[in-house]
Amino acid sequence: MAGNSNLNNSARNKQDEFYTQLSLIESELKHYKGHFKGKVVLCNCDDPYESNFFKYFAINFNSLGLKKLIATCYVGSPIANTQLSLFDHETPENKTTRTPHKIEISEVDDYTGDGRVGLADVEYLLRNRKNALTRLKGDGDFRSAECIELLKQADIVVTNPPFSLFREYIAQLVEYGKGFLIIGNLNAVKYKEILPLFMTDNVWLGNNSGHYWFAVPDTYEEKTTDFKIDENGQKWRRMGNICWFTNLDFEKRHEDMTLFREYSPDVYPTYDNYDAIEVTHTANIPCDYYGVIGVPITFMTRHNPGQFSIEGVLDSGTGNEYDYAKAVVNGKQLYARILIRRKQGAAQ
Ligand SMILES: C[S@@+](CC[C@H](N)C(=O)[O-])C[C@H]1O[C@@H](n2cnc3c(N)ncnc32)[C@H](O)[C@@H]1O
Repeated sequence: MAGNSNLNNSARNKQDEFYTQLSLIESELKHYKGHFKGKVVLCNCDDPYESNFFKYFAINFNSLGLKKLIATCYVGSPIANTQLSLFDHETPENKTTRTPHKIEISEVDDYTGDGRVGLADVEYLLRNRKNALTRLKGDGDFRSAECIELLKQADIVVTNPPFSLFREYIAQLVEYGKGFLIIGNLNAVKYKEILPLFMTDNVWLGNNSGHYWFAVPDTYEEKTTDFKIDENGQKWRRMGNICWFTNLDFEKRHEDMTLFREYSPDVYPTYDNYDAIEVTHTANIPCDYYGVIGVPITFMTRHNPGQFSIEGVLDSGTGNEYDYAKAVVNGKQLYARILIRRKQGAAQ
């Protein structure tokens, strides 16, 4: 599947530098605007040199009504580009060492007097207000005591965290009871640490999902697929099955999927090793079946908790109390399936 080679590569080699495009952030964040008023937002995997998350919240600071924006970066993050030259006043040595930074903003005004608030105003603020831009004491690891103190201050965390640490990352957000909207891979839904959060409707997928291009550092090797270099020499990789993991509510997740197929045992086989029917395409879920149904994981991008409950997965059948078996029909092993059940009384 498109982009999956990049996902596997990332997990194996801990290649975590994938920079998110502003368009991807804007098209998701527009569904949650009401959540941010008076809130402290933390972007804790976000070097302001590269991060469009920082850029998005800085530019929209006033329109979202933010109370504070905090961004921290990690010592391992290399320089990919310097679109946002916030650190021009630093010596070249400092710039290449890149000790991690913290940015804290509690206001953004039209300092440049051009009639609007933009990135130039944010740059002005960081250059002229002491304490807006400071060095972290440690390495900027989201698990460090210093970064956890910042997490405690935050209401909502929004970022694209390192894929190789996704399990730990989401567990920490849940442990500290934070609102969040973070980019991840669809397959993480079935992780044993994460699936129970979906089953209890404490986490769900956001509005957009699919295959998206991410900027990568120059040091990343060229690939024959899902790779390109643009006219500015910037390398890009395409990642498959990208989606947003969140606990912020949004309208679309409460919309019922329209179901128009009727159940028939001839059309919907049961698994060889588990008492549920196999539905190969989400659109074919029967409208009149109330037992357990196995569907592809992409179902989760359309899940409405008022219509279905999540019962577990058929994946490896090992190592997870909700992973009951492999998905096998007539001796043939299928891709992983999410097990769902229609809620009684849910609309057709
Ligand atoms: C997928 S990239 C995304 C970067 C940025 N959030 C964006 O969306 O453009 C993940 C970032 O997390 C950083 N990172 C890796 N390990 C980290 C850690 N333990 N703590 C904080 N950040 C980390 C990486 O350096 C990388 O820049």
